[in-house]
Amino acid sequence: MKRLLITIDGPAGAGKTTVSRRVAERLGYRYVDTGALYRGVAYAAHARGVRPEDDEALAAMLANLRLQFATGPSGARLLLDGEEITDRIRTPEVSMLASAVSARPAVRRFLLDLQQALGREKAVVFEGRDMGTVVFPGADLKFFLSASEEIRAQRRFAELAEQGPARLEDVLQEMRRRDAQDSTRELAPLKPAPDAIRIDSSGLSIEQVVGLIVDHARRRLAAG
Ligand code: DC
Repeated sequence: MKRLLITIDGPAGAGKTTVSRRVAERLGYRYVDTGALYRGVAYAAHARGVRPEDDEALAAMLANLRLQFATGPSGARLLLDGEEITDRIRTPEVSMLASAVSARPAVRRFLLDLQQALGREKAVVFEGRDMGTVVFPGADLKFFLSASEEIRAQRRFAELAEQGPARLEDVLQEMRRRDAQDSTRELAPLKPAPDAIRIDSSGLSIEQVVGLIVDHARRRLAAG
């Protein structure tokens, strides 16, 4: 049976993570959260006192950095030089720093190889910002998932509120800044691939979005 490589790109809070994970489960595929890799680089830079604008220091850091996914009982875990950092990369500070380091050429080059290696065997769902445009321009199926700004901010807010006190207004401001940064950068900016199927998830449940994507995949598989 043909194995598909599926990409799901979109802005923060569009529902990519939950949707991608469930689509992968339904199809029996692997799921790769590429934002976690950028967050891992950001976490390492912060821990080592490397500023995101310092390309030389970033390049030196990346030369010795080992980022790996491992599968644990509760899903994919991220390891930095063997140490688990899965939960530490989910803070608003790491989100902003990930967006900043992701604009640097050395970082994008470093992660490009790593991501392409993870896609070699296909049967994967990749989630990110430039999966369909830059990393896998030849992907079998590409999706661009969006939702209104208010809904995306509310979803992020609900996630963060589970971890501790959060303010909707702060979440909205941070999301706006990050989206602007990710969409206007020179390298691999966030935008839909010309051949991406666009889904606005504002009025849809997670299961409806998952259903739409799985239907597309099944049709593609049936067509051979
Ligand atoms: O999806 P996320 O919020 O975990 O991503 C964190 C940051 O990483 C995001 O603001 C931009 C960057 N990123 C990227 O530039 N390219 C990707 N494929 C995925 C994430």
